Amino acid sequence: MGVRAWEALDSRAHPTVGCVLSLEGGFEGRALVPTGASIGRFEVSDLRDGGTRYAGLGVRDAVERIEKTVAADLVGLPVGEVDARLDGPSNVTLAVSLAAARAAAAASGLPLWHYLSRGGEYSLPCPMVNVFSGGRHAEGGVRIQDFLAVPLAAKTFAEAMEVVWRVRRQAARLTEERHGTLMSRLVADEGGLAVLAGDDAEPLELLARAIEDVGEPVGVAIDVAATQIEHPEEFLGTLEGWCARYPIVSIEDPLGDDDWDGWADATRRFGHLQLVGDDLFATSAQRLEKAVGLGVANTVLVKPNQVGTLGRAAQTMAAARRHGYATVVSARSGDTEDDVIADLAVGWNAGQIKIGSIMRSERLAKYNRLLQIEALDGVPYRGWQR
Ligand code: PGA
Ligand code: ZN
Repeated sequence: MGVRAWEALDSRAHPTVGCVLSLEGGFEGRALVPTGASIGRFEVSDLRDGGTRYAGLGVRDAVERIEKTVAADLVGLPVGEVDARLDGPSNVTLAVSLAAARAAAAASGLPLWHYLSRGGEYSLPCPMVNVFSGGRHAEGGVRIQDFLAVPLAAKTFAEAMEVVWRVRRQAARLTEERHGTLMSRLVADEGGLAVLAGDDAEPLELLARAIEDVGEPVGVAIDVAATQIEHPEEFLGTLEGWCARYPIVSIEDPLGDDDWDGWADATRRFGHLQLVGDDLFATSAQRLEKAVGLGVANTVLVKPNQVGTLGRAAQTMAAARRHGYATVVSARSGDTEDDVIADLAVGWNAGQIKIGSIMRSERLAKYNRLLQIEALDGVPYRGWQR
């Protein structure tokens, strides 16, 4: 087994780790690691060089660690055992974990999603598509991070994409009418419209109007990303008002990642909707078990780089399924042309996928992969299921 790594750049032009793992027989897997901006306290951290190169964000140390320490540790190991052996910073372990999965899938002659399903169920997830962005993804704009469109009645993934495409286009038109062409062309880190008005309700109002204009059953999802907001508990009353006025079907991270009492309260108030924990769980099966015990949230956001390996993320998926929590597999705001997250969502039979807007190629790479899996591999679309 050979492992090579290099310093690449992500969609924010921040350094990230690239990795190729090669097996005897000429099979290889290539991976590029994503990075978040709203990073929760409980995520496994990345290794960054510090110093002045790339403002301290360089990953040469991570690259060296993969090529020296990790590569030496994996000598002679079957590729199927690589994942469980990995330990250390997230950008080191995830790069190797993803490359190993791709190499193993190639060697087995299966599409990655099929290899990852390991004989279990698989399906195409319902997309939650970013339309307006704020928070850390559109600095200076509204405080709420994501306003997303969720197709509720599409029969295929392709149909789902076309419906949300119309919603995004209409939302851009409404933005143009109100704020001019320039504002309607500004895109945030995940390709969403970056309204700079500063009024938290405005994107919601525009999105709801766009949905009405399109005239299809589409719901609204919100990611508050409350770990990035001071005094998020003050938002809960506002959120209730919004839920009464707008077609909100899903709320993510309405409170900070260690506010278990607040989350329990939020679950009483919003638990009839989809209530998603992102920073709260940090994709950790242990944190999910704690939430189950406290009756907190009902849906888990799964981002493999929060825990550092596919194996650990798969355990969290399994725990969610066991406890009746819904699952949303998610990309990061700093992502790359690597489309691996699409295969993970399909192979792990995730309920939904959250990979940003239908804009910017690092986003389209994933949507295009899902469209390919539906069209060529014939995987069934599961639709909105809450
Ligand atoms: P992040 O944002 O990748 O910046 O953490 C995604 C999210 O909060 O869902
Ligand atoms: Zn989030």
